[in-house]
Amino acid sequence: MCGIIGFTGCGRAKDVLLSGLSALEYRGYDSAGISCFTGDGKITTIKSVGKVSKLKTQVPEEFSSTCGIGHTRWATHGGVSQANAHPHSCGRVTLIHNGIIENYLCLRDELSATGRTPVSGTDSEIAAMLIDSLYTGDARAAIAAAAARLEGAYAFCILFSDQPEKIYCIRKGSPLVACQTKMGSIIASDMVALLRYSKDYFVLEEDLIACLTHDEITVTTLDGRTVAPDYLTVTWDVSSAQKNGFNHYMEKEIHEQPDALLRTITPRLVKYVENGESYMLPDFTADGIPDSLFLGLSRIVITACGTAMHAGMMGKILFEELLHIPVTVDIASEFRYQNPILSEDTLVITVSQSGETADTLAALRLATESGARTLSIVNVKGSSIARESAHVFYTHAGPEIAVASTKAYTAQLAAFYMIAFRAAFAARRLSIGECAEYTKGLSLMIPALTKVLERGEEFAAISRHLIKATDLFFIGRGMDYALSCEGSIKLKEITYIHSEAYAAGELKHGTLSLIAPDVPVIALATQHNVLAKMVSNIKEVRARGAFVILVAAKDAGIEPELYDFCIELPETSDRFAPFTAAAVLQLIAYHTSFLRGLDVDQPRHLAKSVTVE
Ligand code: AGP
Repeated sequence: MCGIIGFTGCGRAKDVLLSGLSALEYRGYDSAGISCFTGDGKITTIKSVGKVSKLKTQVPEEFSSTCGIGHTRWATHGGVSQANAHPHSCGRVTLIHNGIIENYLCLRDELSATGRTPVSGTDSEIAAMLIDSLYTGDARAAIAAAAARLEGAYAFCILFSDQPEKIYCIRKGSPLVACQTKMGSIIASDMVALLRYSKDYFVLEEDLIACLTHDEITVTTLDGRTVAPDYLTVTWDVSSAQKNGFNHYMEKEIHEQPDALLRTITPRLVKYVENGESYMLPDFTADGIPDSLFLGLSRIVITACGTAMHAGMMGKILFEELLHIPVTVDIASEFRYQNPILSEDTLVITVSQSGETADTLAALRLATESGARTLSIVNVKGSSIARESAHVFYTHAGPEIAVASTKAYTAQLAAFYMIAFRAAFAARRLSIGECAEYTKGLSLMIPALTKVLERGEEFAAISRHLIKATDLFFIGRGMDYALSCEGSIKLKEITYIHSEAYAAGELKHGTLSLIAPDVPVIALATQHNVLAKMVSNIKEVRARGAFVILVAAKDAGIEPELYDFCIELPETSDRFAPFTAAAVLQLIAYHTSFLRGLDVDQPRHLAKSVTVE
């Protein structure tokens, strides 16, 4: 939801801002712009509709500045237009904004009465007008006074024309991270924009104001007290956030899954000895997650958005089977409006790759206020959800740049498997031997997944049959249904083919009317306990002429007349088939998008990190 960056120092601001915007482009790519001090208090703004690559062609090579701000936009308030592109200026104030100002209409009316007329349709320009109206030479005071008036979410980087070479920043809801380097001070929405300059960074806490100069970053409270920021260190390097020879980030991230899963699983395997026997069990002592978190629970609530919620659907199946506790999975944007029943014996698990999704964060806040226990499964270290949750399970998948989530999803699955195994062991529902056996199965799934990734050409060939499709259905039962939901969102977000996921047994209650000759159906048949029923459901669509792509367990033995293509998964126990099957569906979506000539990594209208409600 918009990427923002600010730099002041001895280097060329243009280079830092434009390369930072390229790294942040996954957050939005409707328009892009920069504003820089270009001498004598003059601020020069260059902005345009379209991607950062277009902006780059408009910034002259000789553009000289050592301080500026840059923005890449995902449109919320106001359409995609030159006027609505950031930065926005009013009087002495020029700013960039990530977030949504909810009370912008009443502020606009109030400020218009003072003679300030907005030229854009954005809420961000109203924020610039507000800060300008409150500015009398003390930037911090103006920003603090504006913060008291603004409702909603924001991260701002602000230039004041009479304070050259300085950038002021504040945030609420939307993220900002900063670092100090020999070259100067940098602040951005995400660490990926800072990575080439520093591995050490700090998260600007809410309701603090940062002032960046060439040599230092000063952080103060709204009433002016200086605060020392807590520095964090990233464990990955700049190559993790590059394509490394792959055509697209998505392709690279799909292939990173074995390594990502190793990082998520291996450090949490601890040797236990009982009666002279050794067992490797999941252990979360180093994460600060005690077994007591899983004891005495009356229910578990999992809440998240999109792909993260689909991982939660798999978590529900595992918890209910292994813990025998009722589990609900709620869409985070609905959660707090449906009067959820939460108490201290409820465990609320929020799941988020970015750790910044506004609806998931709001759900977590409600859970915390209600006195429920909270655990978050998060990829980005130091993100808002991680910091506000009582307990955090970091997935360690590394930076995920493509809008379509792949390695973060399978790492979230691994997190759910480990948590379910450990919780069942803690609750004495699994013996030490059973827990160790299940955990071994999880580790053995990684080489099986690697084998699937080596079969890219096979999936590309199948994808050729999908490029003309207008509608497509995924069907499955149990874990295969949860995975169908994920397969469907992956396909539609990057191929623009309409698709739906159906519990296979539900088709005949309405959806079968949409199955016509040659409509593609991707049927998942990896679960032996429902295999016979699944075969009947495949027969139902086949009888209506569907073009069937079967993704099946190696020994499923489904008659060849029932499908056009069959993708056999490597042998794993059924419980772990979602990992290998997920890789198949990801690669089919990837190749279909690529063959349709679409922008795989940055699909239209979408953004990676959704920090607005
Ligand atoms: C996945 O491919 C999507 N782009 C999207 O559904 C995503 O999973 C969702 O927006 C949640 O994001 P989060 O994990 O960062 O909270």
